[in-house]
Amino acid sequence: MEIYQSAIDLSSQKSLLNRKRMEQICSELRGELQKASEEGPEKYVTRHKTRGKNLARERINLLLDEGSPYLELMPLAGIGQEDMTLGGSIVVAMGFVSGVLCLVNANIPTKKGGALNEISVQKSRRMDEISLQNKLPVIYLNESAGADLSQQAKIFNHGGRAFREITRRSKEGIPSITVVFGSSTAGGAYIPGMSDYVIMVKGEAKTYLAGPPLVKMALGEEIDDENLGGAKMHATKSGLADFLADNEEQAIAYARQVVSQFQNLKLVGPERNFTEPHYSAEDLLSIIPEDVKTPYDAREIIARLVDGSSFFEFKPLYGETLVTAFATIQGFPVGILANNGVLFSDSANKGAHFIQLCQKQNRPLLFLQNITGFMVGKDAEHSGIIKHGAKLINAVSNTTLPKMTILIGSSYGAGNYGMCGRAYDPNYLFTWPNSQLAVMGAEQLAGVMEIIAEQKSKGDGISIKGLLDKGKMKVAKEMMKKKIEDESSPYYGTSRIWDDGIIDPRQTRDILGLCLYSINQAKNVVSGEWGVYRM
Ligand code: COA
Repeated sequence: MEIYQSAIDLSSQKSLLNRKRMEQICSELRGELQKASEEGPEKYVTRHKTRGKNLARERINLLLDEGSPYLELMPLAGIGQEDMTLGGSIVVAMGFVSGVLCLVNANIPTKKGGALNEISVQKSRRMDEISLQNKLPVIYLNESAGADLSQQAKIFNHGGRAFREITRRSKEGIPSITVVFGSSTAGGAYIPGMSDYVIMVKGEAKTYLAGPPLVKMALGEEIDDENLGGAKMHATKSGLADFLADNEEQAIAYARQVVSQFQNLKLVGPERNFTEPHYSAEDLLSIIPEDVKTPYDAREIIARLVDGSSFFEFKPLYGETLVTAFATIQGFPVGILANNGVLFSDSANKGAHFIQLCQKQNRPLLFLQNITGFMVGKDAEHSGIIKHGAKLINAVSNTTLPKMTILIGSSYGAGNYGMCGRAYDPNYLFTWPNSQLAVMGAEQLAGVMEIIAEQKSKGDGISIKGLLDKGKMKVAKEMMKKKIEDESSPYYGTSRIWDDGIIDPRQTRDILGLCLYSINQAKNVVSGEWGVYRM
Protein backbone atom coordinates (compact mmCIF):
# COMPACT_ATOMS: atom_id res chain seq x y z
CA MET A 1 0.00 0.00 0.00
CA GLU A 2 1.15 3.49 -0.76
CA ILE A 3 1.99 6.07 1.86
CA TYR A 4 -0.78 8.63 2.24
CA GLN A 5 0.22 12.00 0.78
CA SER A 6 -0.38 14.58 3.50
CA ALA A 7 -1.61 18.01 2.46
CA ILE A 8 -0.83 19.65 5.82
CA ASP A 9 1.60 22.57 5.78
CA LEU A 10 3.08 22.30 9.26
CA SER A 11 4.70 25.72 9.02
CA SER A 12 1.52 27.61 8.08
CA GLN A 13 0.13 30.22 10.45
CA LYS A 14 -2.95 28.06 11.04
CA SER A 15 -0.86 24.98 11.95
CA LEU A 16 1.32 26.96 14.31
CA LEU A 17 -1.72 28.42 16.08
CA ASN A 18 -3.35 25.00 16.35
CA ARG A 19 -0.15 23.58 17.79
CA LYS A 20 0.22 26.32 20.39
CA ARG A 21 -3.32 25.83 21.60
CA MET A 22 -3.12 22.03 21.69
CA GLU A 23 0.18 22.13 23.58
CA GLN A 24 -1.59 24.24 26.21
CA ILE A 25 -4.54 21.80 26.35
CA CYS A 26 -2.20 18.79 26.67
CA SER A 27 -0.16 20.51 29.37
CA GLU A 28 -3.39 21.14 31.35
CA LEU A 29 -4.17 17.44 31.01
CA ARG A 30 -0.72 16.48 32.31
CA GLY A 31 -1.27 18.80 35.29
CA GLU A 32 -4.57 17.11 36.16
CA LEU A 33 -3.04 13.64 35.78
CA GLN A 34 -0.19 14.67 38.06
CA LYS A 35 -2.67 15.77 40.75
CA ALA A 36 -4.58 12.50 40.36
CA SER A 37 -1.41 10.46 40.87
CA GLU A 38 -0.91 11.82 44.39
CA GLU A 39 -1.66 9.01 46.82
CA GLY A 40 -3.25 10.84 49.73
CA PRO A 41 -2.09 13.26 52.43
CA GLU A 42 1.66 13.51 53.04
CA LYS A 43 1.34 12.30 56.65
CA TYR A 44 -0.18 8.99 55.56
CA VAL A 45 2.30 8.53 52.72
CA THR A 46 5.21 9.07 55.13
CA ARG A 47 3.67 6.79 57.76
CA HIS A 48 3.13 4.07 55.16
CA LYS A 49 6.73 4.31 53.98
CA THR A 50 8.10 4.22 57.53
CA ARG A 51 6.11 1.02 58.02
CA GLY A 52 8.35 -0.37 55.24
CA LYS A 53 5.52 -0.61 52.73
CA ASN A 54 5.28 0.29 49.05
CA LEU A 55 2.73 2.75 47.68
CA ALA A 56 0.08 1.51 45.24
CA ARG A 57 1.89 2.62 42.08
CA GLU A 58 5.23 1.34 43.42
CA ARG A 59 3.65 -2.09 43.83
CA ILE A 60 2.34 -1.95 40.25
CA ASN A 61 5.76 -0.93 39.04
CA LEU A 62 7.33 -3.96 40.74
CA LEU A 63 4.65 -6.23 39.30
CA LEU A 64 4.91 -5.24 35.64
CA ASP A 65 7.54 -6.59 33.26
CA GLU A 66 10.52 -4.34 32.80
CA GLY A 67 9.81 -1.94 29.95
CA SER A 68 6.11 -2.89 29.87
CA PRO A 69 3.69 -0.21 28.68
CA TYR A 70 1.64 1.21 31.54
CA LEU A 71 -1.81 2.56 30.84
CA GLU A 72 -3.82 3.93 33.73
CA LEU A 73 -7.57 3.76 33.14
CA MET A 74 -10.10 6.32 34.43
CA PRO A 75 -7.42 8.28 36.32
CA LEU A 76 -9.56 11.44 36.45
CA ALA A 77 -12.81 9.83 37.58
CA GLY A 78 -14.57 12.13 40.03
CA ILE A 79 -12.75 15.27 38.90
CA GLY A 80 -14.67 18.47 39.62
CA GLN A 81 -17.54 16.68 41.42
CA GLU A 82 -18.37 17.77 44.92
CA ASP A 83 -17.81 15.12 47.60
CA MET A 84 -15.86 12.91 45.19
CA THR A 85 -12.22 11.89 45.65
CA LEU A 86 -10.23 12.48 42.49
CA GLY A 87 -9.48 9.02 41.06
CA GLY A 88 -11.12 7.27 44.03
CA SER A 89 -8.97 5.11 46.29
CA ILE A 90 -7.87 2.59 43.66
CA VAL A 91 -5.54 2.58 40.67
CA VAL A 92 -6.76 0.64 37.63
CA ALA A 93 -4.04 -0.01 35.06
CA MET A 94 -3.10 -2.21 32.12
CA GLY A 95 0.33 -3.69 31.52
CA PHE A 96 2.30 -6.87 30.90
CA VAL A 97 3.04 -9.36 33.66
CA SER A 98 5.24 -12.31 32.70
CA GLY A 99 4.41 -11.63 29.06
CA VAL A 100 0.62 -11.62 29.56
CA LEU A 101 -1.40 -8.42 29.24
CA CYS A 102 -3.27 -7.95 32.54
CA LEU A 103 -5.42 -5.46 34.39
CA VAL A 104 -4.29 -4.36 37.82
CA ASN A 105 -6.65 -3.10 40.53
CA ALA A 106 -4.55 -1.67 43.34
CA ASN A 107 -5.95 -0.19 46.56
CA ILE A 108 -4.39 3.08 47.66
CA PRO A 109 -3.93 2.40 51.40
CA THR A 110 -2.73 5.95 52.00
CA LYS A 111 -6.14 7.38 51.12
CA LYS A 112 -8.40 6.77 54.14
CA GLY A 113 -6.83 3.37 54.79
CA GLY A 114 -7.78 2.37 51.22
CA ALA A 115 -11.48 2.55 52.14
CA LEU A 116 -13.56 2.20 48.97
CA ASN A 117 -15.70 5.24 48.14
CA GLU A 118 -18.27 5.86 45.41
CA ILE A 119 -15.71 6.60 42.70
CA SER A 120 -13.65 3.51 43.61
CA VAL A 121 -16.76 1.36 43.20
CA GLN A 122 -17.64 2.97 39.86
CA LYS A 123 -14.09 2.46 38.61
CA SER A 124 -14.11 -1.16 39.72
CA ARG A 125 -17.39 -1.75 37.90
CA ARG A 126 -15.97 -0.41 34.65
CA MET A 127 -12.80 -2.46 35.19
CA ASP A 128 -15.01 -5.55 35.56
CA GLU A 129 -16.65 -4.74 32.20
CA ILE A 130 -13.29 -4.25 30.50
CA SER A 131 -11.92 -7.46 31.94
CA LEU A 132 -14.93 -9.57 30.95
CA GLN A 133 -15.28 -8.07 27.47
CA ASN A 134 -11.57 -8.29 26.68
CA LYS A 135 -10.89 -11.44 28.70
CA LEU A 136 -8.05 -9.80 30.63
CA PRO A 137 -6.76 -11.43 33.84
CA VAL A 138 -7.01 -9.16 36.89
CA ILE A 139 -4.41 -8.81 39.61
CA TYR A 140 -5.71 -7.24 42.81
CA LEU A 141 -3.13 -5.55 45.02
CA ASN A 142 -5.14 -5.52 48.15
CA GLU A 143 -4.84 -3.34 51.24
CA SER A 144 -8.10 -1.70 52.13
CA ALA A 145 -10.28 -0.71 55.05
CA GLY A 146 -13.27 -2.06 53.08
CA ALA A 147 -16.27 0.17 52.55
CA ASP A 148 -15.82 3.88 53.22
CA LEU A 149 -18.29 3.95 56.06
CA SER A 150 -19.10 7.64 55.52
CA GLN A 151 -20.44 6.72 52.06
CA GLN A 152 -21.94 3.33 52.88
CA ALA A 153 -25.39 4.10 51.48
CA LYS A 154 -23.92 5.12 48.13
CA ILE A 155 -21.76 2.05 47.66
CA PHE A 156 -23.16 -0.90 49.55
CA ASN A 157 -25.64 -2.20 46.95
CA HIS A 158 -23.47 -2.05 43.85
CA GLY A 159 -20.25 -2.78 45.72
CA GLY A 160 -21.11 -6.48 46.04
CA ARG A 161 -21.06 -6.88 42.27
CA ALA A 162 -17.25 -6.91 42.34
CA PHE A 163 -17.25 -10.33 44.03
CA ARG A 164 -19.78 -11.80 41.59
CA GLU A 165 -17.72 -10.57 38.64
CA ILE A 166 -14.58 -12.38 39.84
CA THR A 167 -16.28 -15.77 39.69
CA ARG A 168 -18.15 -14.99 36.47
CA ARG A 169 -14.80 -14.22 34.87
CA SER A 170 -13.28 -17.36 36.33
CA LYS A 171 -16.06 -19.33 34.65
CA GLU A 172 -15.10 -17.68 31.37
CA GLY A 173 -11.48 -18.76 31.89
CA ILE A 174 -10.29 -15.30 32.99
CA PRO A 175 -8.29 -15.66 36.20
CA SER A 176 -8.07 -13.25 39.14
CA ILE A 177 -5.06 -13.19 41.42
CA THR A 178 -5.08 -11.34 44.73
CA VAL A 179 -2.05 -10.27 46.68
CA VAL A 180 -3.00 -9.19 50.22
CA PHE A 181 -0.54 -6.67 51.63
CA GLY A 182 -2.47 -5.44 54.66
CA SER A 183 -6.00 -5.06 55.92
CA SER A 184 -8.66 -6.82 53.87
CA THR A 185 -11.67 -6.64 56.08
CA ALA A 186 -15.38 -7.48 55.96
CA GLY A 187 -16.71 -7.34 52.36
CA GLY A 188 -13.13 -6.72 51.21
CA ALA A 189 -12.24 -10.24 52.34
CA TYR A 190 -14.29 -11.60 49.46
CA ILE A 191 -11.77 -10.25 46.94
CA PRO A 192 -9.27 -12.94 48.00
CA GLY A 193 -12.20 -15.23 48.86
CA MET A 194 -13.43 -15.28 45.27
CA SER A 195 -10.07 -15.15 43.50
CA ASP A 196 -8.49 -18.08 41.68
CA TYR A 197 -5.08 -17.51 43.31
CA VAL A 198 -4.25 -15.78 46.60
CA ILE A 199 -0.90 -14.64 47.97
CA MET A 200 -0.51 -13.11 51.44
CA VAL A 201 2.34 -11.22 53.07
CA LYS A 202 3.44 -12.71 56.40
CA GLY A 203 2.86 -10.44 59.40
CA GLU A 204 1.02 -7.86 57.26
CA ALA A 205 -2.06 -9.39 55.64
CA LYS A 206 -5.13 -9.32 57.89
CA THR A 207 -8.19 -10.89 56.36
CA TYR A 208 -11.33 -11.44 58.36
CA LEU A 209 -15.05 -10.79 58.22
CA ALA A 210 -14.89 -8.86 61.51
CA GLY A 211 -11.85 -7.53 63.31
CA PRO A 212 -10.96 -8.34 66.98
CA PRO A 213 -13.06 -5.48 68.50
CA LEU A 214 -16.23 -6.56 66.71
CA VAL A 215 -15.59 -10.23 67.53
CA LYS A 216 -15.24 -9.30 71.20
CA MET A 217 -18.42 -7.29 71.09
CA ALA A 218 -20.42 -9.96 69.26
CA LEU A 219 -19.10 -13.14 70.89
CA GLY A 220 -17.00 -12.05 73.85
CA GLU A 221 -14.03 -13.82 72.22
CA GLU A 222 -10.61 -12.26 72.85
CA ILE A 223 -8.20 -12.83 69.97
CA ASP A 224 -5.47 -10.79 68.29
CA ASP A 225 -5.67 -9.93 64.62
CA GLU A 226 -2.77 -12.19 63.58
CA ASN A 227 -4.47 -15.27 65.05
CA LEU A 228 -7.85 -14.22 63.77
CA GLY A 229 -6.93 -13.53 60.15
CA GLY A 230 -3.17 -13.29 59.64
CA ALA A 231 -1.37 -14.58 56.55
CA LYS A 232 0.19 -17.57 58.33
CA MET A 233 -3.15 -18.70 59.73
CA HIS A 234 -4.72 -18.46 56.24
CA ALA A 235 -1.82 -20.32 54.58
CA THR A 236 -1.78 -23.13 57.17
CA LYS A 237 -5.30 -23.39 58.61
CA SER A 238 -8.11 -21.76 56.63
CA GLY A 239 -6.64 -22.36 53.15
CA LEU A 240 -7.60 -18.88 52.00
CA ALA A 241 -3.97 -18.19 51.05
CA ASP A 242 -2.22 -20.35 48.45
CA PHE A 243 1.20 -18.77 48.88
CA LEU A 244 2.82 -17.23 51.95
CA ALA A 245 5.34 -14.51 51.20
CA ASP A 246 7.96 -13.13 53.56
CA ASN A 247 7.60 -9.60 52.25
CA GLU A 248 5.93 -7.45 49.58
CA GLU A 249 8.63 -8.11 46.98
CA GLN A 250 8.33 -11.87 47.37
CA ALA A 251 4.54 -11.65 47.20
CA ILE A 252 4.78 -9.79 43.90
CA ALA A 253 7.29 -12.33 42.61
CA TYR A 254 4.74 -15.07 43.44
CA ALA A 255 2.07 -13.19 41.48
CA ARG A 256 4.40 -12.95 38.48
CA GLN A 257 5.14 -16.66 38.78
CA VAL A 258 1.44 -17.50 38.83
CA VAL A 259 0.83 -15.46 35.66
CA SER A 260 3.81 -17.08 33.97
CA GLN A 261 1.84 -20.37 34.16
CA PHE A 262 -0.89 -18.94 31.88
CA GLN A 263 0.73 -20.34 28.75
CA ASN A 264 -2.59 -20.36 26.91
CA LEU A 265 -2.85 -16.57 27.23
CA LYS A 266 0.51 -15.80 25.69
CA LEU A 267 0.25 -14.52 22.15
CA VAL A 268 2.21 -16.85 19.94
CA GLY A 269 2.57 -16.94 16.19
CA PRO A 270 4.53 -14.98 13.66
CA GLU A 271 6.59 -12.10 15.01
CA ARG A 272 4.64 -8.88 14.81
CA ASN A 273 6.40 -7.00 12.07
CA PHE A 274 5.10 -3.56 11.38
CA THR A 275 6.31 -0.23 10.11
CA GLU A 276 5.92 2.89 12.21
CA PRO A 277 3.84 5.66 10.59
CA HIS A 278 5.64 7.75 7.98
CA TYR A 279 4.28 10.91 9.64
CA SER A 280 5.00 11.88 13.23
CA ALA A 281 2.28 11.79 15.91
CA GLU A 282 3.53 15.26 16.85
CA ASP A 283 1.81 16.58 13.70
CA LEU A 284 -1.56 15.83 15.28
CA LEU A 285 -1.25 18.93 17.44
CA SER A 286 -0.88 21.09 14.34
CA ILE A 287 -3.86 19.48 12.60
CA ILE A 288 -6.54 19.65 15.31
CA PRO A 289 -8.38 22.99 14.85
CA GLU A 290 -9.33 25.30 17.68
CA ASP A 291 -13.03 25.20 16.90
CA VAL A 292 -14.45 21.66 16.80
CA LYS A 293 -16.76 22.85 14.00
CA THR A 294 -13.84 23.65 11.65
CA PRO A 295 -13.67 20.84 9.09
CA TYR A 296 -10.44 19.01 8.27
CA ASP A 297 -9.58 15.82 6.48
CA ALA A 298 -9.85 12.76 8.74
CA ARG A 299 -7.28 10.98 6.55
CA GLU A 300 -4.63 13.26 8.03
CA ILE A 301 -5.38 11.73 11.47
CA ILE A 302 -5.56 8.16 10.16
CA ALA A 303 -2.16 8.60 8.47
CA ARG A 304 -0.63 9.36 11.88
CA LEU A 305 -2.16 6.31 13.59
CA VAL A 306 -1.74 3.41 11.18
CA ASP A 307 1.31 1.35 10.21
CA GLY A 308 3.38 2.94 7.48
CA SER A 309 0.78 5.76 7.16
CA SER A 310 -0.87 3.48 4.56
CA PHE A 311 -4.48 2.47 4.42
CA PHE A 312 -6.79 0.97 1.83
CA GLU A 313 -9.83 3.15 1.52
CA PHE A 314 -13.17 1.51 0.79
CA LYS A 315 -15.69 3.38 -1.45
CA PRO A 316 -13.58 6.59 -1.51
CA LEU A 317 -15.90 8.24 -4.05
CA TYR A 318 -19.16 7.50 -2.25
CA GLY A 319 -20.59 8.95 0.98
CA GLU A 320 -17.51 11.12 1.34
CA THR A 321 -18.37 12.45 4.80
CA LEU A 322 -17.40 9.09 6.27
CA VAL A 323 -13.95 7.67 5.55
CA THR A 324 -13.87 3.87 5.74
CA ALA A 325 -10.53 2.13 5.48
CA PHE A 326 -8.69 -1.15 6.06
CA ALA A 327 -5.36 -0.76 7.86
CA THR A 328 -3.11 -2.25 10.52
CA ILE A 329 -2.04 -0.74 13.83
CA GLN A 330 1.12 -2.25 15.34
CA GLY A 331 0.57 -5.20 13.06
CA PHE A 332 -3.06 -5.84 14.08
CA PRO A 333 -5.73 -5.55 11.35
CA VAL A 334 -8.43 -2.96 11.96
CA GLY A 335 -11.37 -1.46 10.06
CA ILE A 336 -11.56 2.31 10.52
CA LEU A 337 -14.65 4.54 10.32
CA ALA A 338 -13.75 8.22 10.59
CA ASN A 339 -16.07 11.20 10.23
CA ASN A 340 -15.28 13.73 7.56
CA GLY A 341 -18.31 15.98 8.02
CA VAL A 342 -22.00 15.53 8.77
CA LEU A 343 -23.45 12.05 8.22
CA PHE A 344 -25.71 11.93 5.15
CA SER A 345 -27.80 8.99 3.95
CA ASP A 346 -25.06 7.74 1.64
CA SER A 347 -22.31 7.97 4.27
CA ALA A 348 -24.49 6.15 6.82
CA ASN A 349 -25.15 3.39 4.26
CA LYS A 350 -21.47 3.15 3.45
CA GLY A 351 -20.65 2.76 7.16
CA ALA A 352 -23.20 -0.04 7.56
CA HIS A 353 -21.84 -1.79 4.44
CA PHE A 354 -18.25 -1.49 5.71
CA ILE A 355 -19.08 -2.93 9.15
CA GLN A 356 -20.63 -5.97 7.46
CA LEU A 357 -17.45 -6.48 5.43
CA CYS A 358 -15.27 -6.23 8.55
CA GLN A 359 -17.56 -8.73 10.28
CA LYS A 360 -16.88 -11.21 7.46
CA GLN A 361 -13.14 -10.69 7.95
CA ASN A 362 -13.35 -10.79 11.76
CA ARG A 363 -11.59 -7.42 11.75
CA PRO A 364 -11.95 -5.21 14.88
CA LEU A 365 -13.45 -1.76 14.33
CA LEU A 366 -12.02 1.63 15.19
CA PHE A 367 -14.35 4.63 15.25
CA LEU A 368 -12.81 8.10 15.08
CA GLN A 369 -15.62 10.41 16.14
CA ASN A 370 -15.70 13.98 14.92
CA ILE A 371 -19.37 14.33 14.26
CA THR A 372 -21.88 17.15 14.53
CA GLY A 373 -24.69 14.68 13.84
CA PHE A 374 -26.82 13.33 11.03
CA MET A 375 -27.93 15.84 8.36
CA VAL A 376 -31.23 17.58 9.11
CA GLY A 377 -33.73 19.46 6.91
CA LYS A 378 -36.18 18.77 4.10
CA ASP A 379 -33.81 17.16 1.60
CA ALA A 380 -32.29 14.89 4.22
CA GLU A 381 -35.68 13.80 5.58
CA HIS A 382 -37.05 13.17 2.09
CA SER A 383 -33.99 11.07 1.27
CA GLY A 384 -34.81 8.87 4.28
CA ILE A 385 -32.00 9.97 6.60
CA ILE A 386 -33.71 8.34 9.59
CA LYS A 387 -33.92 4.89 8.05
CA HIS A 388 -30.41 5.12 6.55
CA GLY A 389 -28.95 6.36 9.83
CA ALA A 390 -30.81 3.54 11.56
CA LYS A 391 -28.94 1.04 9.38
CA LEU A 392 -25.62 2.33 10.66
CA ILE A 393 -26.88 2.21 14.25
CA ASN A 394 -28.19 -1.29 13.53
CA ALA A 395 -24.82 -2.50 12.26
CA VAL A 396 -22.96 -0.93 15.21
CA SER A 397 -25.43 -2.47 17.67
CA ASN A 398 -25.39 -5.98 16.29
CA THR A 399 -21.84 -6.52 15.14
CA THR A 400 -20.04 -9.04 17.30
CA LEU A 401 -16.67 -7.48 16.47
CA PRO A 402 -14.53 -5.83 19.13
CA LYS A 403 -14.89 -2.05 18.87
CA MET A 404 -12.72 0.86 19.94
CA THR A 405 -13.85 4.47 19.88
CA ILE A 406 -11.84 7.67 20.13
CA LEU A 407 -13.55 11.04 20.42
CA ILE A 408 -11.17 13.21 18.41
CA GLY A 409 -13.40 16.27 18.02
CA SER A 410 -17.12 16.83 18.36
CA SER A 411 -19.51 14.08 19.34
CA TYR A 412 -23.00 15.43 18.99
CA GLY A 413 -26.47 13.97 18.67
CA ALA A 414 -27.25 10.59 17.17
CA GLY A 415 -23.88 10.82 15.40
CA ASN A 416 -22.45 9.70 18.75
CA TYR A 417 -24.64 6.59 18.57
CA GLY A 418 -23.97 5.74 14.92
CA MET A 419 -20.24 6.11 15.61
CA CYS A 420 -20.26 3.73 18.59
CA GLY A 421 -20.46 6.05 21.59
CA ARG A 422 -20.49 4.76 25.18
CA ALA A 423 -24.07 3.48 24.93
CA TYR A 424 -22.94 1.02 22.23
CA ASP A 425 -20.45 -0.74 24.50
CA PRO A 426 -17.16 -0.31 22.65
CA ASN A 427 -14.44 -2.46 24.27
CA TYR A 428 -12.50 0.74 24.89
CA LEU A 429 -13.41 4.42 24.61
CA PHE A 430 -10.91 7.25 24.99
CA THR A 431 -11.28 10.97 24.43
CA TRP A 432 -8.90 13.65 23.27
CA PRO A 433 -8.70 16.70 25.53
CA ASN A 434 -10.10 18.96 22.79
CA SER A 435 -13.25 16.87 22.26
CA GLN A 436 -16.83 17.89 23.03
CA LEU A 437 -19.74 15.58 23.83
CA ALA A 438 -23.39 16.66 24.00
CA VAL A 439 -26.76 16.29 22.37
CA MET A 440 -25.77 19.32 20.26
CA GLY A 441 -23.39 22.29 20.36
CA ALA A 442 -23.89 24.74 23.26
CA GLU A 443 -24.73 27.68 20.95
CA GLN A 444 -27.31 25.63 19.04
CA LEU A 445 -28.88 24.19 22.17
CA ALA A 446 -29.21 27.60 23.82
CA GLY A 447 -30.67 28.98 20.56
CA VAL A 448 -33.22 26.16 20.34
CA MET A 449 -34.28 26.73 23.95
CA GLU A 450 -34.74 30.44 23.19
CA ILE A 451 -36.94 29.75 20.16
CA ILE A 452 -39.04 27.28 22.18
CA ALA A 453 -39.52 29.83 24.98
CA GLU A 454 -40.55 32.50 22.49
CA GLN A 455 -42.99 30.22 20.72
CA LYS A 456 -44.48 28.99 23.96
CA SER A 457 -45.18 32.45 25.30
CA LYS A 458 -46.68 33.57 21.97
CA GLY A 459 -48.76 30.40 21.57
CA ASP A 460 -50.13 30.64 25.10
CA GLY A 461 -51.01 34.24 24.47
CA ILE A 462 -49.12 35.00 27.63
CA SER A 463 -48.06 38.54 27.93
CA ILE A 464 -45.65 37.96 30.79
CA LYS A 465 -43.70 41.08 30.43
CA GLY A 466 -40.46 39.74 31.78
CA LEU A 467 -40.48 36.54 29.71
CA LEU A 468 -40.00 38.25 26.40
CA ASP A 469 -37.79 40.88 27.85
CA LYS A 470 -34.86 40.74 25.41
CA GLY A 471 -32.29 41.56 28.10
CA LYS A 472 -33.43 38.73 30.38
CA MET A 473 -33.65 36.32 27.45
CA LYS A 474 -30.07 37.13 26.55
CA VAL A 475 -28.84 36.47 30.09
CA ALA A 476 -30.81 33.21 30.27
CA LYS A 477 -29.37 32.13 26.92
CA GLU A 478 -25.81 32.89 28.00
CA MET A 479 -26.31 30.95 31.25
CA MET A 480 -27.68 27.98 29.36
CA LYS A 481 -24.78 28.14 26.89
CA LYS A 482 -22.23 28.17 29.70
CA LYS A 483 -23.92 25.20 31.40
CA ILE A 484 -23.88 23.15 28.19
CA GLU A 485 -20.26 24.10 27.49
CA ASP A 486 -19.27 22.84 30.94
CA GLU A 487 -21.22 19.63 30.48
CA SER A 488 -19.71 19.03 27.02
CA SER A 489 -16.15 19.15 28.34
CA PRO A 490 -14.19 15.88 28.25
CA TYR A 491 -13.43 16.44 31.95
CA TYR A 492 -17.15 16.38 32.76
CA GLY A 493 -17.45 13.04 30.94
CA THR A 494 -14.31 11.43 32.30
CA SER A 495 -15.35 12.43 35.82
CA ARG A 496 -18.47 10.30 35.34
CA ILE A 497 -16.58 7.45 33.63
CA TRP A 498 -18.22 8.02 30.24
CA ASP A 499 -14.78 7.18 28.84
CA ASP A 500 -11.80 5.08 29.92
CA GLY A 501 -9.61 8.16 30.09
CA ILE A 502 -8.65 11.41 28.39
CA ILE A 503 -5.48 10.80 26.40
CA ASP A 504 -2.85 12.97 24.77
CA PRO A 505 -3.50 12.58 21.01
CA ARG A 506 0.17 11.69 20.53
CA GLN A 507 -0.28 8.53 22.62
CA THR A 508 -3.26 7.30 20.62
CA ARG A 509 -1.41 4.80 18.41
CA ASP A 510 0.36 3.13 21.34
CA ILE A 511 -2.86 2.93 23.34
CA LEU A 512 -4.74 1.45 20.38
CA GLY A 513 -1.89 -1.06 19.97
CA LEU A 514 -2.37 -2.15 23.57
CA CYS A 515 -6.16 -2.42 23.16
CA LEU A 516 -5.74 -4.47 20.00
CA TYR A 517 -3.21 -6.69 21.77
CA SER A 518 -5.81 -7.42 24.47
CA ILE A 519 -8.44 -8.19 21.83
CA ASN A 520 -6.11 -10.67 20.14
CA GLN A 521 -4.93 -12.22 23.42
CA ALA A 522 -8.61 -12.79 24.30
CA LYS A 523 -8.92 -15.32 21.47
CA ASN A 524 -6.85 -17.79 23.53
CA VAL A 525 -9.10 -17.81 26.59
CA VAL A 526 -10.99 -21.05 27.20
CA SER A 527 -14.27 -20.84 29.14
CA GLY A 528 -15.74 -23.50 31.40
CA GLU A 529 -18.92 -24.25 33.33
CA TRP A 530 -17.98 -22.90 36.75
CA GLY A 531 -15.73 -20.37 38.38
CA VAL A 532 -12.92 -21.85 40.50
CA TYR A 533 -13.89 -22.60 44.12
CA ARG A 534 -11.22 -22.23 46.80
CA MET A 535 -10.77 -25.52 48.65
N1 COA B 1 -14.32 4.18 56.26
C1 COA B 1 -14.03 5.48 56.35
N2 COA B 1 -12.87 5.96 56.81
C2 COA B 1 -11.97 5.08 57.25
C3 COA B 1 -12.21 3.70 57.21
C4 COA B 1 -13.43 3.25 56.68
N3 COA B 1 -13.73 1.94 56.55
N4 COA B 1 -11.14 3.06 57.70
C5 COA B 1 -10.25 4.01 58.02
N5 COA B 1 -10.75 5.24 57.77
C6 COA B 1 -10.10 6.55 57.97
C7 COA B 1 -9.68 6.77 59.40
O1 COA B 1 -10.77 7.26 60.16
C8 COA B 1 -8.58 7.80 59.23
O2 COA B 1 -9.19 9.07 58.96
P1 COA B 1 -8.60 10.47 59.50
O3 COA B 1 -7.43 10.76 58.62
O4 COA B 1 -9.70 11.43 59.27
O5 COA B 1 -8.21 10.25 60.92
C9 COA B 1 -7.90 7.36 57.96
O6 COA B 1 -8.86 6.56 57.25
C10 COA B 1 -6.65 6.51 58.18
O7 COA B 1 -6.99 5.44 59.05
P2 COA B 1 -5.97 4.76 60.05
O8 COA B 1 -6.74 3.84 60.94
O9 COA B 1 -5.15 5.81 60.71
O10 COA B 1 -5.04 3.95 59.03
P3 COA B 1 -4.15 2.67 59.33
O11 COA B 1 -3.33 2.48 58.10
O12 COA B 1 -3.40 2.78 60.60
O13 COA B 1 -5.17 1.45 59.50
C11 COA B 1 -7.02 0.04 58.91
C12 COA B 1 -5.91 0.99 58.42
C13 COA B 1 -7.79 -0.38 57.70
C14 COA B 1 -6.37 -1.17 59.56
C15 COA B 1 -7.93 0.73 59.96
O14 COA B 1 -8.22 2.05 59.51
C16 COA B 1 -9.22 0.01 60.18
O15 COA B 1 -9.26 -1.00 60.86
N6 COA B 1 -10.36 0.51 59.57
C17 COA B 1 -11.66 -0.06 59.73
C18 COA B 1 -11.78 -1.30 58.89
C19 COA B 1 -13.18 -1.86 58.94
O16 COA B 1 -13.63 -2.31 59.96
N7 COA B 1 -13.87 -1.84 57.81
C20 COA B 1 -15.17 -2.36 57.70
C21 COA B 1 -15.76 -1.84 56.46
S1 COA B 1 -17.09 -2.84 55.91
